[in-house]
Amino acid sequence: MVSETGATRQFIRMPDDQPAHLRVEGLTAYYGESMAIEPITLPIPRQQVTAIIGPSGCGKSTFLRSLNRLHETLPAARNEGNVWLDGEDIFDPEVDPIIVRRRIGMVFQQPNPLRGRTIAQNVTIGLELDGASKRECAEAVERSLRLTALWDEVKDRLNDPAIKLSGGQQQRLCLARSLAVEPEVILMDEPASALDPIATLRIEELVKQLASDYTIIIVTHNMQQAGRVSDHTVFMTLGDRGAGVVAEAGPTSEIFTTPANPKTEDYITGRYG
Ligand SMILES: Nc1ncnc2c1ncn2[C@@H]1O[C@H](COP(=O)(O)OP(=O)(O)OP(=O)(O)O)[C@@H](O)[C@H]1O
Ligand SMILES: [Mg+2]
Repeated sequence: MVSETGATRQFIRMPDDQPAHLRVEGLTAYYGESMAIEPITLPIPRQQVTAIIGPSGCGKSTFLRSLNRLHETLPAARNEGNVWLDGEDIFDPEVDPIIVRRRIGMVFQQPNPLRGRTIAQNVTIGLELDGASKRECAEAVERSLRLTALWDEVKDRLNDPAIKLSGGQQQRLCLARSLAVEPEVILMDEPASALDPIATLRIEELVKQLASDYTIIIVTHNMQQAGRVSDHTVFMTLGDRGAGVVAEAGPTSEIFTTPANPKTEDYITGRYG
């Protein structure tokens, strides 16, 4: 029934031959009294891409936002359980959630550049809050924009308002903004669903490239995309109690060709109601 039971554990085949970057243990999420995700226990491999797929409303975004302590910022929202980031519990009362969000950055579905700020100022917002020097900021702008393949497109107009960029450019700018503070993990919630096919492919290429340095977790409704970009796939669905559960997790190639859980097969073949 829940991911704590032996019945579901057999469907979790994440690699155990390497130390996980993130180790999720019995993580739940509530909105008020309502449980949105049942206990999830899952290792997230380092410097690989883990995709999360599953039907609308099964808790993918809630799970993702729980991983960098964003969930708890909503009124009456809370988590239980543990998330270990390199052995450190992100929910430890001694741990500053701001530091957690710096180490575990996030990119959202809709590009959300800071209005009223320039392209360069969008990249440096986090560094400015840290008191970085002008030179450090300038270096971070070039480094981050190069990482997101945006540098050549915008280097001559760094002081233009960010909202003048196209949607795909804005999304790469938002990625550059999260990279500027040098995170270790990047959470992406349907980062390409608002973009056209060309901009989508660019984001996918970036995701694959960035995985050589970063651990990436990406939620997507596009199963071809999950197949193209990810090493591992986590299939979430609604459990019997109406909250999200992990129905299966493992190497992407296996999940899409030989899923162990019949529910996964129903979903990926489109038989899911
Ligand atoms: N702010 C909120 N307050 C109360 N309930 C919420 C809130 N946000 C989400 N929920 C509920 O939590 C459950 C999981 O929602 P979530 O957004 O995590 O699903 P999802 O898998 O990301 O869906 P989608 O694919 O549509 O983005 C849903 O039942 C939703 O109604
Ligand atoms: Mg969502």
